Amino acid sequence: MVIVAAGSGQRLGHGIPKARVLCGGLTLLERSLRSVLASGVAAEIAVVIPAGDDVLRSVAEGLSGAVPVRVVAGGTSRAGSVRAGIGALSIDAPVILVHDAARALTPPGVFERVVSRLAAGADAVIPVVPVADTVKAVRSGRVEGTPDRNGLRAVQTPQGFTARLLREAHADARAEDPLITDDAMLIEATGAPVLTVEGDPAAFKVTTPLDLMLAETLVQAAGTSPAPTADPEEAPMTESALPPAAPLPLPRTGIGSDIHAYAPEDAPAPLWLAGLLWEGERGLAGHSDGDVVAHAAADALFSAAGLGDLGTHFGTDRPELAGASGVAILSEAAAIIRGAGFRIGNIAVQLIGNRPRFAARRSEAEAVLSKAAGAPVSVSATTTDGLGLTGRGEGIAALATAVVISAA
Ligand code: CTP
Ligand code: MG
Repeated sequence: MVIVAAGSGQRLGHGIPKARVLCGGLTLLERSLRSVLASGVAAEIAVVIPAGDDVLRSVAEGLSGAVPVRVVAGGTSRAGSVRAGIGALSIDAPVILVHDAARALTPPGVFERVVSRLAAGADAVIPVVPVADTVKAVRSGRVEGTPDRNGLRAVQTPQGFTARLLREAHADARAEDPLITDDAMLIEATGAPVLTVEGDPAAFKVTTPLDLMLAETLVQAAGTSPAPTADPEEAPMTESALPPAAPLPLPRTGIGSDIHAYAPEDAPAPLWLAGLLWEGERGLAGHSDGDVVAHAAADALFSAAGLGDLGTHFGTDRPELAGASGVAILSEAAAIIRGAGFRIGNIAVQLIGNRPRFAARRSEAEAVLSKAAGAPVSVSATTTDGLGLTGRGEGIAALATAVVISAA
């Protein structure tokens, strides 16, 4: 199984890769990967992510288990990403399924139908749904024709192929043609039959902001209200007979901060900041490693959950934490928050200080902290124009906000 998640999500417009966008508190990639695992059809999964995206890498690797998950960087086109995924598979399976991470809510039945048709001898299988709109062929703003809607189908993923056929198709230079928008088109071009099975409306592709709203609503409904059991023939559903809409659990925000003075000249310390060791930089004084970024992030988590603050959980009365790394504290804080029934949306931290120059190591720091928190952590940095204790170079400060949501 190949899951392609290396696209940039231009049409969704969140400014981050689409697979990293949250839907009901989980990234779209995590939802797709979980739905593939729940279907039970994969022996091995190659997840194709944007090069260097450590958040998506840790999401994918975190779900590797009995079904191994391999992570590989994608290409500039979808076809290039599919090719990278195929190359990363190590088990020589007779068939390969290719699935869009953007179809995050694909029900298990779609995977099962594709796999059973392949097992029954088909070489290429795609899930399809009827087209609701009348479709026109248009050129330069003028209608050229109206194909019979009964003969049209909208195409979904996973698309399944015998491994040989798919590998051959992607070895062909035509795969890079931008007019080729799915894998089945490559097979059609060889003249080999492509068969269809029934798709599912829930396997829609999250492409635009409206799609994301629909996905959020479906996740919400699945998590809170049972499906109505009344037979619609016997008792037609009126609006008043519908189950009452469950109230949306609102996200909770929190705020945290931390500040440490530089270690005195006569007792120098290494600088640990944002989960990284900064060679050659002056370190901070502190009860632990003085990582103000990690501490502010943990503080914001407790604030968001209404569970006190860093001192409540890791006060100086816990000698075992003396010298604990900021990363260990952040990961312990995240575990406490989850243990109390919350999911973590994200954490944003701003580092305030003259040194170190942070930008060059931002993505490295964000990856380490995101892994510790099990949720996206973004870090920005600023100076204070020479003002105040950070401006005078007496220490480093950090402010953080976090969003959590009750999992109940
Ligand atoms: N995809 C990919 N590599 C690319 C382009 C797309 O792996 N170079 C993946 C996407 O991550 C997505 C699937 O192919 O799961 C379908 O693509 P699409 O919905 O078009 O996603 P994006 O290309 O990310 O979105 P947009 O076209 O709006 O930028
Ligand atoms: Mg695209």
